[in-house]
Amino acid sequence: MRISIIGCGYVGLVTGGCLAEIGHDVMCTDNDPARIATLEAGRAPIYEPHLDTVLATARSAGRLAFTRSAGEAVRAGDNIFICVGTPPRQTGEADLSAIDNVARIIATEARTPKLVIEKSTVPAQTGLQLKRALAVYGRKNGLTLRVASNPEFLREGTAVEDFMHPDRIVVGVEDEGSEKQLREIYRPILEGSRHCPVHTAACPPAPAPHMLVTSMTSSELIKHASNSFLALKISYANVLADLCERLGADVEEVTSAMGLDPRIGPQFLRAGLGFGGFCLPKDVQAFVRLAESVGVDFGLLKEAERVNRRRVGLFLDEVRRALWVVKDKQVGVLGLAFKPNTDDVRLAPAIEVIRQLAAEGVQVRASDPQAMEKARAILPDVEYVRDPYEVAKNADALLITTEWEEFRRMDWKRIRDVMARPLVLDGRNLLDPVQMKALGFEYYSVGRPDAQAKLKRRRNSAIVIQALTALKPVLQEGHLSKTAILGARPSSRDRTKRQPLEPGNP
Ligand code: UGA
Repeated sequence: MRISIIGCGYVGLVTGGCLAEIGHDVMCTDNDPARIATLEAGRAPIYEPHLDTVLATARSAGRLAFTRSAGEAVRAGDNIFICVGTPPRQTGEADLSAIDNVARIIATEARTPKLVIEKSTVPAQTGLQLKRALAVYGRKNGLTLRVASNPEFLREGTAVEDFMHPDRIVVGVEDEGSEKQLREIYRPILEGSRHCPVHTAACPPAPAPHMLVTSMTSSELIKHASNSFLALKISYANVLADLCERLGADVEEVTSAMGLDPRIGPQFLRAGLGFGGFCLPKDVQAFVRLAESVGVDFGLLKEAERVNRRRVGLFLDEVRRALWVVKDKQVGVLGLAFKPNTDDVRLAPAIEVIRQLAAEGVQVRASDPQAMEKARAILPDVEYVRDPYEVAKNADALLITTEWEEFRRMDWKRIRDVMARPLVLDGRNLLDPVQMKALGFEYYSVGRPDAQAKLKRRRNSAIVIQALTALKPVLQEGHLSKTAILGARPSSRDRTKRQPLEPGNP
């Protein structure tokens, strides 16, 4: 099918590249000429695993083209995906001016009927406004311009894989024709008939994704409701972590046990510096404002937002406590991106951590496998070094602010030896407290007991397991129940299921 993509951010590029990959003819445009020039030169303007391969393959197969002319792109496709940004306004509401602008362009440049598909994250009822705008601006050409909503659920860092192996495809439509057209666009994915570029061998077996057909407004709501719920889960885990710290419990033990309940699920319960990036924070705000605009108080989400805003401050309090005097101290920061496997630093907790430390007179040296260039554009005065070991050199403290696998695998013994003071504050719970303590680090993480307590408990657990093993014959005879003897402790099997993250090279 002939497809146009308007907006070449990560959503537009992954969508365009993957749609070409599954056999469609795709033309992409963006109002930033430099971005199009980069793409025409065969480079991806963002770091996203597998994206460069997807774009290169599709281009060399002649299925993907880029143009600076929005009119040309509009005329090239029968299906137009709107993938432009919807950044937050000062009030927190989504700024829909780019969508409005694109609606005008489509309405005036189209020469044949089109299905206009909202891919950008937008507040509920935007589709209805979009339809109205297309009708008003296109009234002279008398074309049928239908509208559909098709939210994306792509996570940065795994977006290509998410596109090729979605757990659901949601389409909000107003007529059967639009549904049929969208089903045809996604047919290769729904049927699993295309091999995806992420897996070099065969793709792992997975159930076929569902295509859910809803009204446009429900479809728009599904996106905001999903991201907001994920944000709620993260904030819940973070408050739980604070509680665990006060009570001497381990948040990872608590959340992993909670996650075994299928009604809760294990994902998005990682405590740490909170959620960043350009999706969750802005979508939560926009959802709250949307609810307010129709007289619904989404206090629950406001609280999740408030909890999130405090995470960096709490972490910095810990840094100040550990360092005593922060001014003129040398602090190394590992991680700049808002999450691993991306170069995106928008609303990244790491950036806020550095900004505040620098304001207090701390000498910051930072490293990130992909995000240094983008961080430099925001914080030009920070010293950036490619080699993460250089970050540790003579440092009074080392902060872990993004959980890149590369950092976990570092030689932490070597790091200890080059630091002025072997102090690590792990804002992402990347490392194992017991191992860090054993290596001689002063080590702080989020919501996990100190190494001593953990070590003691691990010994106690071993004693409990021994005792249970010895009592097994008695228990089997039914004289005593396990819970009567020990309370409702998790079985040793459950405990061994969740191994803590351990530094690769202690
Ligand atoms: C999010 C959603 O997960 C996607 O489904 C959605 O399509 C996308 O927004 C979007 O709207 O475009 P993304 O922003 O790429 O994806 O990142 P997430 O993986 O959701 O992580 C967001 C933030 O939460 C990161 O800062 C991450 O470090 C943090 N996080 C995540 C936690 O602090 N704890 C967790 O347990 C999980």
